[in-house]
Amino acid sequence: MMNNASTDTPRTYVVTGSASGIGQATAQLLKERGHRVIGADLHDAEVIADLSTADGRASLIEGVTEASGGRVDAVLAVAGVDIAGPATAAINYYGAISTMTGLRPLLLNSPAPRVVAVSSITSVHPYDEELLDLLLDGEEAAALRRAAVAGPVYATTKRALSRWIRRHAITPDWAGAGIPLNAVAPGLVRTELLKRLFDDPGTRQRIEAGSPMPLGGPYEPVAAAELLAWLAGEQNGHMTGQTIFLDGGADVALRGDSTW
Ligand code: NAI
Repeated sequence: MMNNASTDTPRTYVVTGSASGIGQATAQLLKERGHRVIGADLHDAEVIADLSTADGRASLIEGVTEASGGRVDAVLAVAGVDIAGPATAAINYYGAISTMTGLRPLLLNSPAPRVVAVSSITSVHPYDEELLDLLLDGEEAAALRRAAVAGPVYATTKRALSRWIRRHAITPDWAGAGIPLNAVAPGLVRTELLKRLFDDPGTRQRIEAGSPMPLGGPYEPVAAAELLAWLAGEQNGHMTGQTIFLDGGADVALRGDSTW
């Protein structure tokens, strides 16, 4: 029997971004533990959906509803990009939130529903205030217009995602429905996303300086998968609204005492 399989009841997990990196490692780990995984991505997935568009987000809900028969036990919103411009806001923020809210009705039939999103260490980096406000409280079209000209779009989308989770976790829709809602904030993880950024030596230097990891890093995606699996598993019945930093100490290095 695989690791941990003996303690887990088989569950159905939805993982977006399942074709690569952290999403792929998480889908694989969950399958190894005997669970059913409905992967969603632009390609190489059971459900093909482009989370940057309203149509694609609707396809995700439709595809998962059909594949699951109308009930899922956990949703992991992992898909994300770090590219210049509005696509990053459309995918990282609106794509993730549509994934969580759109699939919420399918979670209501589970005895132990859970939701986890992937934020980032950059959620505590400098951000664009106007974009943050538009993401949290404005129209998508206005937010995407701002994202076309704002500086730190990626960091702002991740801050907005963590803040959205914090704002919603204790509401009737989530805590009231018995659904823990959390995020993981990785430091630097060895995936295609990081490889693309590291291809440029200047960008690499800026990223490494911006997210120092005293405990070591970058690390392999399976380490993030282990934490995502725990947060999305039956075991997590009491933690909600949190962003857990899996970052080799980067959050502490950057924020020091300021949090407490
Ligand atoms: P990756 O590039 O290896 O995987 C991302 C996956 O998302 C890909 O399979 C891609 O096809 C999918 N995706 C991209 N755009 C999409 C769209 N419009 N619709 C549906 N799927 C789409 O990247 P990685 O590193 O595994 O990223 C996963 C998450 O982790 C992202 O949210 C990223 O922001 C976050 N993250 C990654 C870090 C890193 O160092 N790699 C650090 C902190 C956070």
